[in-house]
Amino acid sequence: MNESFDELQSLINVAQEARTRAIAPYSNFQVGAALETVDGKIYSGCNIENASYGLTMCAERVAIFKALSEGERKFKRLAIVAEAKELTPPCGACRQIIWEFCGDISVALANGNGAVTVLQMRELYPHAFDKSFLKQSR
Ligand code: THU
Repeated sequence: MNESFDELQSLINVAQEARTRAIAPYSNFQVGAALETVDGKIYSGCNIENASYGLTMCAERVAIFKALSEGERKFKRLAIVAEAKELTPPCGACRQIIWEFCGDISVALANGNGAVTVLQMRELYPHAFDKSFLKQSR
């Protein structure tokens, strides 16, 4: 086991720990996320559901908004953990938010049973919409 593998595993562990704090009484699908800054700080998040289902907030966005609200702006990688055989990728809304604030970071998907896949955001979100398109409309 090399050092970077251990570091990734500890980020995944933080996401797994955050998952235990998920508030998901409607879907019963608990998700945890952990976002690492370029300085090595880690911000975690869990999904938070609401009886008005559409107000639900995903774990990834909770982690990102926590970090942003603390003044963080530069991110290195994100880990997402859900307890499912198929590794859980971020939803479309989260991909847009990750792209906006984190850019082409690496995203580790894990299931808490040892399965891990690491993808780059550009693979997860090809042909992304971003501010570069806003300039063209004038
Ligand atoms: N969810 C996340 O938190 N992150 C994902 O990547 C996928 C979906 C949450 C939202 C909702 O609380 C539950 O999982 C089922 O969609």
